[in-house]
Amino acid sequence: MNFLSWVAIAAVVAVLIQISSSSENQETPSEAVKIIELPGQPKVNFQQFSGYITVDEKQDRALFYYLVESEIEPASKPLVLWLNGGPGCSSIGAGAFSEHGPFRPSGDILVRNEYSWNKEANMLYLETPAGVGFSYSANSSYYKVVDDEMTARDNFVFLQRWFAKFPEYKNRGFFIAGESYAGHYVPQLALLIVQSNKDKQFNLKGIALGNPLLEFTTDFNSRAMFLWSHGLITDSTYVAFTSVCNFTRYVSESFRFSVSSVCVGVMDQVSREVSQYVDQYDVTLDVCLSSLQAQSKALTRPQYEHKIDVCVRDETYIYLNRKHVQKALHARLVGVTNWSICSKVIHYKLLNLEIPTVPILCSLIQSGIRVMVYSGDQDSIIPLTGSRTLVHGLAKELGLNTTVTYRVWFAQKQVGGWTQVYGDILSFATIRGASHEVPFSQPERSLVLFNAFLEGKTLPTAL
Ligand SMILES: *[C@@H]1O[C@H](CO)[C@@H](O)[C@H](O)[C@H]1NC(C)=O
Ligand SMILES: *[C@@H]1O[C@H](CO)[C@@H](O)[C@H](O)[C@H]1NC(C)=O
Ligand SMILES: *[C@@H]1O[C@H](CO)[C@@H](O)[C@H](O)[C@H]1NC(C)=O
Repeated sequence: MNFLSWVAIAAVVAVLIQISSSSENQETPSEAVKIIELPGQPKVNFQQFSGYITVDEKQDRALFYYLVESEIEPASKPLVLWLNGGPGCSSIGAGAFSEHGPFRPSGDILVRNEYSWNKEANMLYLETPAGVGFSYSANSSYYKVVDDEMTARDNFVFLQRWFAKFPEYKNRGFFIAGESYAGHYVPQLALLIVQSNKDKQFNLKGIALGNPLLEFTTDFNSRAMFLWSHGLITDSTYVAFTSVCNFTRYVSESFRFSVSSVCVGVMDQVSREVSQYVDQYDVTLDVCLSSLQAQSKALTRPQYEHKIDVCVRDETYIYLNRKHVQKALHARLVGVTNWSICSKVIHYKLLNLEIPTVPILCSLIQSGIRVMVYSGDQDSIIPLTGSRTLVHGLAKELGLNTTVTYRVWFAQKQVGGWTQVYGDILSFATIRGASHEVPFSQPERSLVLFNAFLEGKTLPTAL
């Protein structure tokens, strides 16, 4: 190699270094700031941070995160990135404030969640893609068509820059978890990390997926049997919903704006029988009646010992839209007047729902990344039976033998659900009595599951 090419290479390297250091040091005062205190929060002994990471300087596109450090020895605990689904729903509104964050809004105050996941890990909640929650793109053209690829790319840029800002989190053990449509987001992001060889640097150990969309046909068509076996539809409607027009066909047609009359007929029949008064994300849970009716906010389910606030979404909406709460969070609204649980501005490419992510799980496992799929067993949206079939098929394809045969697992001396493990790297678990958003309806059981996942242990057997 001659001298000139060395000079050329050195110049390129210098430019690259400059680019990367300028993007890492470009800290505006609103970024990466510690939260002094959230309005109405009880005294706690852990730190919280929130702010923006710019993922595109030119277009001024930035993603908002909320980091909750572990309550116990944060320096020895792993980092878990949490993503909610939608596509287009908020990980702060759903994940942090309704599921496994340290607090749940209740009127003017925040109530401590005693089963919060920051007992076991440092939790990083990310609102993604831009246009969701407090994340934004100053150029609103970005919202016209958002797809899986754009989302994964931004999430990856976010992570690289986030780790550059919080270098103490490198090599501590990193996991990515999420639910529902995060069955796309999580594997797609993990794959980019593995492909760029950042998995060693970030120490990516595993991913966990709750009631995830993994394969459109299997997942959506398992709904008919779930509704039928739970008594929500009749025998004849079940037959129509499986042989005349199944749910996959209906959704597929509606994505293409060409719903056939047979599908309209079957769906009308299904909707009439299920009714609009049942929460399809948990067919046994009561629904949140309009706040106009003076409903008791904390409804008790007698068979479980804890109380579930079925109106937590409304509480969260009110809380996160308070100006002083947004100020305490270092959040700002760009291009929207209110924070909302699911984006009202982005147009997500819905045909992406049909892309299977099982092949990605396959290559992640081949790279040594642990995968756990878990299912709240009362969810009719992505029922456990479809997920169980897909995980079993994946194990078969990878030639992974069963290392823990299908059995019950326990939490507080009761059956927490069922589990099966393949090749000590792929596991499946159900959570008994849980909704689509497992930690919302079964916080205690979900914490047992989360702990086992992080430690790579099998779920507890009977005492
Ligand atoms: C806004 O985004 C669109 C599409 O992403 C792009 O074509 C356009 O150039 C952008 N506008 C500006 C002012 O940067
Ligand atoms: C937006 O939030 C404010 C509180 O900041 C609330 O008063 C208002 O009703 C909300 N707007 C909508 C459309 O929900
Ligand atoms: C799986 O089980 C089969 C049959 O018992 C055995 O031949 C094979 O070696 C096992 N595979 C692994 C990876 O342990």
